[in-house]
Amino acid sequence: MALVQLIYSSTLVDHAPQVLKEILHTAREVNQWRDITGMLLHSNGQILQVLEGRAQTVDKTFAAIEADPRHRNVFVLSRHAVTERHFGAWTMGFRDLTGLEIGAHPAAQHVFAASRPEIDGRVKPGGALALLVFFAEGVAATAEVD
Ligand SMILES: Cc1cc2nc3c(=O)[nH]c(=O)nc-3n(C[C@H](O)[C@H](O)[C@H](O)COP(=O)(O)O)c2cc1C
Repeated sequence: MALVQLIYSSTLVDHAPQVLKEILHTAREVNQWRDITGMLLHSNGQILQVLEGRAQTVDKTFAAIEADPRHRNVFVLSRHAVTERHFGAWTMGFRDLTGLEIGAHPAAQHVFAASRPEIDGRVKPGGALALLVFFAEGVAATAEVD
């Protein structure tokens, strides 16, 4: 079974807690059904998300995500085959990061940037994944939105 890992960033149109809650609720329900795992980081409207699963399933799910009007500036940062899951414990882990946490991490500022040139020029290969792994530390498998 070919596994892929896809990482993208985007900007929420409205980042009220209720919107995030609804997104996470759907994501976890659908992902469990589709055997997709991952992590979603949010900070002040900026999203960094990783999806892992069978190639066809991830691509289909991402196509729906990309077309979702609740966010824009959807940029794929990486998509490649993996031999094992990095986020296998989460149907969709979640962490809401403060500006302070983002600011303390130089790579985070670029990965969470809203504009493509800023992301392209500054995010090293593997940089977005390293960040997701870093911030996923300590996120409980059942972490709630609020
Ligand atoms: C930032 C963001 C992240 C999302 N993550 C997921 C996800 O991990 N899995 C998922 O099935 N839907 C996710 N969604 C929701 C999808 O865009 C879509 O609403 C859902 O898959 C239902 O698709 P459908 O309306 O085509 O059935 C996300 C939406 C947004 C805005």
